[in-house]
Amino acid sequence: MTKKGFIFDLDGVIVDTAKYHFLAWKKLAHSIGVDFTETQNEQLKGVSRVRSLEKILEWGNTSLSEAEFQNLMAKKNEDYLSYINKMDASEILPHVSQTLDFLIECNQSIALGSASKNARPILEKVNLHSKFDAIVDGNDVSKAKPDPEVFLNGAKALGLEPKDCIVFEDSVAGIQAANTADMISIGIGDQNVLHEADFIFKDFTEMSQEFILDIISGTIDKQTKNTSI
Ligand code: BG6
Ligand code: MG
Repeated sequence: MTKKGFIFDLDGVIVDTAKYHFLAWKKLAHSIGVDFTETQNEQLKGVSRVRSLEKILEWGNTSLSEAEFQNLMAKKNEDYLSYINKMDASEILPHVSQTLDFLIECNQSIALGSASKNARPILEKVNLHSKFDAIVDGNDVSKAKPDPEVFLNGAKALGLEPKDCIVFEDSVAGIQAANTADMISIGIGDQNVLHEADFIFKDFTEMSQEFILDIISGTIDKQTKNTSI
């Protein structure tokens, strides 16, 4: 069987941590008098911690000293970690473990491609780290999604060409990064939000083994785009 590289985003794809990022950013925005909506939150998904705070300040038309900026970033992470510390395997999103196991059974390569600097401890908490051949996270990249760096590094770490890689993403920025990297982009979530993806599924329960096998064999590729599912 051909070997493809399956690159998973973490937050909102493997684990339901997107809601914790949202709660922590909302609290931070309100603490500096900035309004924060769910629509704005969509624009922060997949985006690095630094870039997220910059965007919130832009929306609030406000600025901070470097020391205040660093202080708020630390506070946001502290708040976020208070949720993360309570996590266990029950917060793995539906059918993710089964999908990882199926890919392993099919002898495929698996990488993590996340913007988060907390990715490794989270994978350990939910006991999935052993399923990954490579992990690329927020500590390993200098450019935030939608820049493709994180996924290109993932492909390199797996020893595969970008065109042989498939990305699972819940964020607009991540789908754009995968498309720029010339990888098959698979959106996990709302099709109205993720319409730039090559394929979109509400969650992994909707993705058949047949679809995955067609991707591995090349029957489905980037050009097939939304026609066969
Ligand atoms: C991404 C999340 O995976 O990681 C973003 O979608 C988050 O919401 C980013 O800001 C950085 O995460 P962390 O854990 O390093 O603050
Ligand atoms: Mg995500």
